[in-house]
Amino acid sequence: MKLLVAGSTGFLATELIRQAIAHPGVTSVIALGRREASLPAGADPAGKLKLLICKDFEAYSDDIKSEMATADACIWTIAITPGKLRSVTWEEACKISRDYAVAAIEAISQIRRDNPTSKFRFIYTSGHTATRDPSKKPLILRDYSVMRGEAETLILKCAQESNGIVEACVAKPGLIEDPKDPRFWTKTAKNYGRMLFGIPKVSVQEIAAALIDQTVNGIDKDTLENEDLVRIGAKALAAQASS
Ligand SMILES: NC(=O)c1ccc[n+]([C@@H]2O[C@H](COP(=O)([O-])OP(=O)(O)OC[C@H]3O[C@@H](n4cnc5c(N)ncnc54)[C@H](OP(=O)(O)O)[C@@H]3O)[C@@H](O)[C@H]2O)c1
Repeated sequence: MKLLVAGSTGFLATELIRQAIAHPGVTSVIALGRREASLPAGADPAGKLKLLICKDFEAYSDDIKSEMATADACIWTIAITPGKLRSVTWEEACKISRDYAVAAIEAISQIRRDNPTSKFRFIYTSGHTATRDPSKKPLILRDYSVMRGEAETLILKCAQESNGIVEACVAKPGLIEDPKDPRFWTKTAKNYGRMLFGIPKVSVQEIAAALIDQTVNGIDKDTLENEDLVRIGAKALAAQASS
């Protein structure tokens, strides 16, 4: 399977790329980002990885379109996370976190409609607080959660309207933690502070394993809550450890 990982330089994408390279069901990994991801030496012994830079996430170049035409799945991780919201305007946050992902699934649907091959699986990484019902704004991250919920609705609608050409899934993790990073909680507390209360957690290894499992073996359901990601990820990691 050929997998596209969008947002290749990010925290989650770095683990996705590492696991995808090692996964026997993934033959090729296209890492898409606004700048090149850096990998540790020897991280890609079989030469599965291709790094691609994208200059415009709303109008794709021909080289990216041709990768979309031949890929089997995409895991979309590009977004402004809550801890970085102050670094951009609200309009930029909406464009980067919602509009880019919607433009991507629309582009993929169009490309695959013109040249149907296998069914394309598209996973949008959203968040636990995101809501598709604007009247149910959560107590924290209120407008942000509605905006991410709008992205979820638009992505699932685009897949529904593709007549089976594209299948979409929304992953809704709580806090993604890295148990292997000793500075994780200090950095997280600094970025998220009191927002952390009551938010469920998933390890970055579990969510990466869960998302790759869904792209390789099929999507269980169109919305994966944090508990689903923990369950699917833990099972996939255990299977890898015993093989
Ligand atoms: N981390 C968590 O605890 C957590 C929890 C729940 C949900 N999530 C969701 O999981 C996904 C991944 O999160 P993450 O923690 O991996 O985020 P991250 O480390 O901040 O990575 C975000 C990615 O988006 C890219 N990006 C940001 N602004 C961009 C722009 N203007 N144009 C193109 N690319 C841009 C970044 O590129 P640069 O490196 O070039 O900036 C990076 O590759 C997001 O949807 C996030 O909301 C994360």
